[in-house]
Amino acid sequence: MKTEVGIIGAGPAGLMLARILQQHGIDSVIIERRSRDYVLKRIRAGVLEQGTVDTLTAYGVGARLASEGIPIDAMQIRWNRERHFIKILDEDGRRLTTYGQAKVVRDLIEQREADDLPILFETEVDRLEDLEDAPRIRFTQAGAARSLDCAFVAGCDGYRGVSRGYIPDARQRSHLREFPFAWFGILAEAAPHPDMRGFAHSTRGLAVASARSEAIGRLYLQVGRDFDVDSMSEEEVWDELDRRMDDGSGGRLNRGPIIERNLARLSGFVCESMQHGRLLIAGDAAHIVPPSGAKGLNLAIGDARVMAEALRGRLRGNDDRMFADYTRICLRRVWPTVHWSCQMSDTLHMFPEQPSFATQMQYQNLDHWMNTEIGQRRFRTAMLGLPYEV
Ligand code: FAD
Ligand code: PHB
Repeated sequence: MKTEVGIIGAGPAGLMLARILQQHGIDSVIIERRSRDYVLKRIRAGVLEQGTVDTLTAYGVGARLASEGIPIDAMQIRWNRERHFIKILDEDGRRLTTYGQAKVVRDLIEQREADDLPILFETEVDRLEDLEDAPRIRFTQAGAARSLDCAFVAGCDGYRGVSRGYIPDARQRSHLREFPFAWFGILAEAAPHPDMRGFAHSTRGLAVASARSEAIGRLYLQVGRDFDVDSMSEEEVWDELDRRMDDGSGGRLNRGPIIERNLARLSGFVCESMQHGRLLIAGDAAHIVPPSGAKGLNLAIGDARVMAEALRGRLRGNDDRMFADYTRICLRRVWPTVHWSCQMSDTLHMFPEQPSFATQMQYQNLDHWMNTEIGQRRFRTAMLGLPYEV
């Protein structure tokens, strides 16, 4: 097999990259380890920056997003049993939009299938060869060893993928922080109440109430890293969410059957070396953020845009500059976003054995973000995301 760009991974980064390349007339093949069904059902992030919404729309995959996305024009954070609001919608009409990652992935896969372009599901990449001159991707499909020759390799294979391992100085140039907790996420057939949506700092730990549609709620509880997601009954989960969200007003979450439970351990990670020869890596393969800032998916889409431009320069424009600068351009968005996501995490969670003094400091941070002009500007700007440079 042969193509121009061999893409490893059918997550948001790989699928978006393939779509942009297609619009520029560049061929690609996507190789994905998991089944189509598994990829479509994987529940993860849910909050899109305006830049992500604009990118999906500009590349012709924004129709369902326009009708089903839930706009977020203001956010609420509760702490110390009080509720505080901040306007998110800015002067230019930028806002956040709730739209599940599973839907983003479905829209991109269905578009690619409608265009009759290849995604090899249940196909695992084993190794990469000759990345400096004539790259070859070795993979296993239905038990048979095969290979794909390509001009460039896009490593969009997530945090545990194989591609980062082919960047010689990746390990030395990586930075990791593991937080001592995780998010227990549920999906529930319970209409999300608009008054209850947002973050709740509580001395019992963080609670987050979000949505996937008018009828489906997405909620999270801060738990330990080794928490067993099946250890709480449905009633215990709802009681704990209500306790953490309590602001003294008597408001309660709408309850309903829990249809999905999962656990995400919180970490921040940045690999400052995102390319080697004809291999470029993007998204979670290169960096991960704790979910408190809701940025992981947005960063993946940002990298895909930069990578598509870099590859277009090499393959169509006879212009090497963007390719040479790929890592630096991506990191200019990545580091401030990782910083913000970690600041949010430090401020919203209870750490083990946290002294009351530290809790008071968190309240001061929250008060600054929600209730001062300068803090509101910082919060709004960070949540809306950095502008693109392409
Ligand atoms: P991924 O979506 O991870 O896609 C990588 C793909 O590569 C996968 O489909 C994988 O199967 C495939 N792959 C890996 N190795 C190989 C191989 N050898 N051969 C072929 N294919 C391979 N962000 C938030 O903002 N909010 C959240 O609530 C949130 N929850 C999360 C929960 C979990 C459990 C995880 C892991 C992440 C979560 N994130 C969340 C982060 C967000 O979902 C990611 O940032 C986003 O998925 C990154 O997209 P990606 O395309 O870079 O990687
Ligand atoms: C979500 O809707 O899944 C969500 C909301 C807020 C976050 C992270 C995820 O910070």
